[in-house]
Amino acid sequence: MRAPLSLPSSTTTAGGLTFLLLLLDLIPTAATVKHENFKTCSQSGFCRRNRAYADHVLSPDNAGKWVSPYEIKENTIVLQNGILQADILKTVPGQSDKIILPLSINFQKSGAVRVTIDELKRQKRDIVLRGDSKARKERYNEAERWALVPDWDVRDDKVVYDNRKGQITLTFGPGLKYKAVVDVAPFSVKFERDGETHIVLNDRGLMNVEHWRAQPPAPEEGKEKSSEDLDGGWDETFGGNTDSKPRGPEAVAMDISFPGYEHVYGIPSHATSLSLKSTKGGEGEYQEPYRMYNADVFEYIVDSPMTLYGSIPFMQAHRKGSSVGVLWLNAAETWVDVVKEKAKRMIPMGGAKTDTKTHWVSESGLLDVWVFLGPDPQALYASYGALTGFTKMPPSFAIAYHQCRWNYVSQDDVKDVDRKFDKSEIPYDVIWLDIEYTDGKRYFTFDPLTFKDPKKMMKNIDKTDRKVVLIIDPHIKNTDNYPVVEELKSKDLAVKDKTGGIYEGWCWPGSSHWIDAFNPAAIEWWKSLFAFDKFKGTAKNTFIWNDMNEPSVFNGPETTMPKDNLHFSNWEHRDLHNINGMTFMNATHQALEARQLPKGGTQRSFVLTRAFFAGAQRLGAMWTGDNEAKWEHLQAALPMLLSQGIAGFPFSGADVGGFFGNPSKELLTRWYQSGIWYPFFRAHAHIDAKRREPYLLGDPYTGIIREAVRLRYALLPAWYTAFHRASQDGMPIIRPNFVVHPDDEDGFSIDDQIYIGDTGILVKPVVHEGVDKVNIHLGDGEVYYDYWSYKIYQGKGAKEYNAPLEKIPVLMRGGHIFPRRDRHRRSSGLMKHDPFTLVVVLDNKGNAEGYLYHDDGESFNYKAGHYVHRKLVFDSATKTLVSSNLHKDPVSAEPYNKEARPLQVEKILIVGISKAMKTASLAKGKKTKVMVTEEGKDRAVSVEYNAAADASSADTLLVKNTKLRIVSDWTVHLEKAEGDVAKDEL
Ligand SMILES: *[C@@H]1O[C@H](CO)[C@@H](O)[C@H](O)[C@H]1NC(C)=O
Repeated sequence: MRAPLSLPSSTTTAGGLTFLLLLLDLIPTAATVKHENFKTCSQSGFCRRNRAYADHVLSPDNAGKWVSPYEIKENTIVLQNGILQADILKTVPGQSDKIILPLSINFQKSGAVRVTIDELKRQKRDIVLRGDSKARKERYNEAERWALVPDWDVRDDKVVYDNRKGQITLTFGPGLKYKAVVDVAPFSVKFERDGETHIVLNDRGLMNVEHWRAQPPAPEEGKEKSSEDLDGGWDETFGGNTDSKPRGPEAVAMDISFPGYEHVYGIPSHATSLSLKSTKGGEGEYQEPYRMYNADVFEYIVDSPMTLYGSIPFMQAHRKGSSVGVLWLNAAETWVDVVKEKAKRMIPMGGAKTDTKTHWVSESGLLDVWVFLGPDPQALYASYGALTGFTKMPPSFAIAYHQCRWNYVSQDDVKDVDRKFDKSEIPYDVIWLDIEYTDGKRYFTFDPLTFKDPKKMMKNIDKTDRKVVLIIDPHIKNTDNYPVVEELKSKDLAVKDKTGGIYEGWCWPGSSHWIDAFNPAAIEWWKSLFAFDKFKGTAKNTFIWNDMNEPSVFNGPETTMPKDNLHFSNWEHRDLHNINGMTFMNATHQALEARQLPKGGTQRSFVLTRAFFAGAQRLGAMWTGDNEAKWEHLQAALPMLLSQGIAGFPFSGADVGGFFGNPSKELLTRWYQSGIWYPFFRAHAHIDAKRREPYLLGDPYTGIIREAVRLRYALLPAWYTAFHRASQDGMPIIRPNFVVHPDDEDGFSIDDQIYIGDTGILVKPVVHEGVDKVNIHLGDGEVYYDYWSYKIYQGKGAKEYNAPLEKIPVLMRGGHIFPRRDRHRRSSGLMKHDPFTLVVVLDNKGNAEGYLYHDDGESFNYKAGHYVHRKLVFDSATKTLVSSNLHKDPVSAEPYNKEARPLQVEKILIVGISKAMKTASLAKGKKTKVMVTEEGKDRAVSVEYNAAADASSADTLLVKNTKLRIVSDWTVHLEKAEGDVAKDEL
């Protein structure tokens, strides 16, 4: 979290205007994010240069005349072990020096391709640094070490090579379905699938690798400056901070076109729509490129391409019939322009009449692009996830409700909040302590006055199987008598300034140093600090929140570190800025997993991070940072979280209620009704905000929120199953319309309604003030039922849904089965032994299928096969519901099956039963029992039929008290009644 620092006075405007502003109460809006603290493209030298380069190349004067100065030297081409290598030659007018850029194109078995361009002179360290810098001379080449999984490199050794007339064609991928067509001069690469071009690199000739050069002397009087004297390429000052740029200009840029694609998604985090807008002006579009430079942007504005706290440079392009994507693997400050143009060529089947053209610019590092050819969202996410890792399986409490505020001020306060939740019968799992729990902002300590006996507090919270999350940030207080900072210094594990001395800056504790978690020794040291006997007062149920890890530095440029700071092995901060937060999160994650539990063994970690990069999904959860208690921030949350899912980091949430300010009761209630659908569900509030724990609101609000939170708890088994799927193949946990209905062109930009995993649950939360109706878009002609009343909604397109304050618009799509747990408990841990309910939602043809994943929710035993994974199928032909085993290795499942054997299915609710069978005998009450077969034995169980009041709603059938086990194979036979069983037995 972030406190608003003193804001610049806005009252210096002309008296009349000030008066008007006050009158209109516009001052709070005007006082939000201090835009001037953050650069625009034109204030960032390399962005300004590369946008100008693009403008020059694309100007009408140059139409048809521009030739990109990059070409492959044909005699250098080698294809070996799935990698094509060659030298690219950059020609600079009036310069005879050869600038050689080694190119490598790496073909992976999965079909993914990596195009990497380095610079020979820097690779060989054959450059001279400006000043007396100790920085590394190479282009940063370690992003892959953090972003990609260790065993990512699985080569395609069957690439077919063909070179004719300056065009190299490489055929590759599963079934040789893909082609990369490399033009030699000028250099470009077209990626084809099924004979169509989907992605083109350097399509418009905007590629630019700023080669090393010595800083030219200042031009003589009256002479023009040298063309090598790049604007903003040397010392650059912003907001009173000067960046020394010891390596001079070194940006890399490339344009990437998606022909026939009108929509692109991804590159979080931005407070913007899911389908990305154009960035070169036009009505409703942006003027600035999307920026990725992790920063502490407090009170951020919505509908903006401005950078936020984390960055994932992964972009998906989607059209009817196809999804493809790119990962721009670069951790330096990055800007992305997006434009949409009328397609020049005829686009075959499914193609839009629009091309989306993007332009990516990074300040330093390699030009490193991964290309994924889909062909559909599911395949795309699977291949991206195989590379950067899938979301980790969280401990089960982590997907329940988290209660946070800055701050619960004492142990008594914690106890009181805990008690009041129970008294008001609102479940919660985790209480959070923000920075004030520490002894004077010294992490790994507790305030001795307010938290006298933290161990006792942990124990008290544990009585209801609840957890405590403590904040620990990367800035370490620079003070005397603090062993943590003493060790940080004596072991030499901190980030350095440009001179190589320990870097000192300001954050919460005042003067601070920063742990350099790029250093393996720093990770080891960090791990040691969390041991239970070292971090006194913590226990098994203590977990960690990493905030301010962009890193936030109050007196630094753009509230972060100077770019010329130095990290482990002398990489400049500039090169790895966007990875920095993830390395800190990694250290914490490693530390929590290393803690030896009192009874032996280890447990899954839970770490929340604010800063992130591609790959951070392997480590824990993120949230969208310091939002505001305003309706527009509630509206901004869902598109942002959907974008996180697209970019492979689905364990995401936004502060429920809004961090800054005081939400109205209506806003807070609507926010809960929305927040229960965030994969990470936490309420949080700023220190200046009034207390707003849900029990404080009074009825009807408290009651409505109680029902909402209980719904989250009832659906926890479905959420857990969705997390499991994401951990296996990267399918987002909450999914936008276009992922579920990839051919529904009307729904490609819908980002205010979501589907939950494979459940078919479709939610459109109310996010506008005073609204009691929403239009839910149905992406197909399937039957949908209201979650609450079983009212039928059908027909593609918008459907009106009444949503007074107490109602959350939730539909269930026909064809799905999902698990629930219907008993109300105080925490998810206390639901451990509860039975399940299965909700079977029949489709137009009377069929349905779904999944249940279950494990112990805390240990790593699931990795050894200790889990239950079932497929549930309702078949209208046989009128049966069958539970079958999906476990990959049933033998390894046996120990856990024994443990989970007492877990039963209590009820089965079949919605739309008349889609599958005639209900006459049910309706007349002739049939009150049906047969179930489990482990070879038959028995009768009771059913209750509920006829709909009229044809606008669905009939339901409730199979009661089934006693079926979740671990065993079983069948429910709806057409065999008790009588049939008796006959069979005769
Ligand atoms: C975390 O750090 C460890 C070193 O302890 C390293 O092996 C691992 O790759 C890192 N993981 C991530 C995701 O950065």
